[in-house]
Amino acid sequence: MTPEAPGHAGGDALHFSVLTLFPELLRPFTQEALLGRAAANGLLKFDLHDLREHAGNRWRKVDDTPYGGGAGMVIRVDVVERALAALPSTPDEVILLTPAGQRFDQRLAEELAGRQHIALLCGRYEGFDARVEGLVTREVSIGDYVMMGGEAAAACIMEAVGRLRPGVIGDEESWRADSYSSGLLDYPEYTRPAEWQGHGVPQVLMGGNHAAITRWRRDRALERTLARRPDLLPGAGLTPEDSSALLTLGVDADALAGHGAPPPPTPKRKRTRRPKTPQEPV
Ligand SMILES: C[S@@+](CC[C@H](N)C(=O)[O-])C[C@H]1O[C@@H](n2cnc3c(N)ncnc32)[C@H](O)[C@@H]1O
Repeated sequence: MTPEAPGHAGGDALHFSVLTLFPELLRPFTQEALLGRAAANGLLKFDLHDLREHAGNRWRKVDDTPYGGGAGMVIRVDVVERALAALPSTPDEVILLTPAGQRFDQRLAEELAGRQHIALLCGRYEGFDARVEGLVTREVSIGDYVMMGGEAAAACIMEAVGRLRPGVIGDEESWRADSYSSGLLDYPEYTRPAEWQGHGVPQVLMGGNHAAITRWRRDRALERTLARRPDLLPGAGLTPEDSSALLTLGVDADALAGHGAPPPPTPKRKRTRRPKTPQEPV
């Protein structure tokens, strides 16, 4: 085992154990920037384990040719079994990284952020002997493409899950408003300079009217999500005010329900005063 962070990890640290043939690929990743700081502060804990240390032979050979023939090499299940058994504590989640797994997304990141100890199993070559499935709690893919190894996938998961732990990115509000956590894609942000190559900044953001800024941001988030990821709208907890915004953005009134949007607020009817009838003389 090669401990990653200075040993401050307390009982509340989320612990990641990565099992890989290339631990040095991930070492700087877990020592730099916010992940490194979180490790130094005892919020996250990383350890990297070289699968070759559990090869069980003096050549440190962990793979073999596939039964039935074919190209490539397959990582042996007994090597993985020994590597998992040698972990400093029993993980409550053991994740096999594979393009054939459940697709990683923000919901899964939020679920995993509630774990105490996550083991990430990185493949190489043709991947693992299929019997490794009996040693893991789930199989995860980071997308519909094939990489040469699982290390980049492990890095994605540690970033996305680690930042959800309290204190890791400081202001928890900042991740709650992020794309996917809020249910919508994030609204566009601007900073100085106010004018750049003829492109300005929306006037509402300069005005200091916080209610107007909040509504503008929500409307832009709706607009972006509608244009880029309309599939997210039904799960976004849309309000009647959001429905009004969607109508303004060109969504047909009949299509609102299909986007998971409630009916827009009914416009308040102007009360018309009845003219007083003059009192009849008795
Ligand atoms: C070349 S790939 C093996 C691909 C495998 N033969 C297949 O077709 O499913 C080697 C390793 O990279 C990792 N990997 C590649 N693409 C991945 C993805 N999209 N998500 C997670 N892990 C991936 C896995 O750990 C895998 O064992």
